[in-house]
Amino acid sequence: MTGDTPRKGIVLAGGTGSRLFPITNGVSKQLMPIYDKPMVYYPISVLMLAGIREIAIITTPQDQDQFRRALGDGSQWGVSFTYIVQDRPEGLAQAYILAEAFLDGSPSCMVLGDNIFFGHGLPELLERACARETGGTVFGYRVADPERYGVVAMDAEGRVTQIIEKPEKPPSPFAVTGLYFLDGTAPARAAKVTPSARGELEITSLLEMYLADGALTVERMGRGYAWLDTGTHGSLLDAGNFVRTLQSRQGLQTGCLEEIAYEKGWIDRARLEELAEAMAKNDYGRYLKTLLRD
Ligand code: DAU
Repeated sequence: MTGDTPRKGIVLAGGTGSRLFPITNGVSKQLMPIYDKPMVYYPISVLMLAGIREIAIITTPQDQDQFRRALGDGSQWGVSFTYIVQDRPEGLAQAYILAEAFLDGSPSCMVLGDNIFFGHGLPELLERACARETGGTVFGYRVADPERYGVVAMDAEGRVTQIIEKPEKPPSPFAVTGLYFLDGTAPARAAKVTPSARGELEITSLLEMYLADGALTVERMGRGYAWLDTGTHGSLLDAGNFVRTLQSRQGLQTGCLEEIAYEKGWIDRARLEELAEAMAKNDYGRYLKTLLRD
């Protein structure tokens, strides 16, 4: 990371979770298990891999306690969590308005609490985006069903001309992932976004403002990356199976916050030992113990 103001992180983990009813009737979607960890571990791991240590977790009023119980204040992983409430799910761009005081002019990286990324080279991709201090960076990922997402439209030269939310006729197969690197102007810009036809402050409207100023970089996240869907009962199970298959084949964890913290030097050996001991009876704890040996 460069520059004087360290980039801060936002995990947007509110919303009703209605597409996953009845399993989300009593528990937040972003705390659902993806194999061996709560879903929100994966987006947090992305921020930590990007070197971000000051993180705001935005939740619904009723779910904040669950998140506090699951994640604490972050010190166990060498980071700090600030909890912010979103009273109603009024759109992704609202996160920047709610986090304005927390950001205090800093550039940010926001990740949606239900987005899971995996790929060799992810740290480098994140580092490149972090290094751009002005403007914004988002990622275009090829999907079979772009109409479900924000979609990138390009001109004949491949320059991005528009970002459209859930278009009936997608102009390209490239969806914008839920990972947004924006500069310190994001809260002021978000305050100018007006509600869409469905009544939300759309993230695509905010991105369009950056685009209009020639300040948006859209990077391709290539086929070597997995961007997993967790939006349906089936895709939730698939995501869990993906993580299980990968981890058991490689003997390596993905989204393991203790490991990232230790690798980054944010926690010491004694702390890792303590964290491992608390889970010594399962594979997760045993994995942490192997890190102490290696
Ligand atoms: O996943 C990437 C997509 O996320 C982007 O391509 C779209 O441009 C973007 O609008 C968003 O689309 P979704 O249809 O997935 O948005 P959804 O309403 O499901 O919200 C995404 C997550 O953010 C979900 O876990 C709930 C949470 N959320 C959502 C809203 C609208 C909040 O925490 N607060 C909100 O106000």
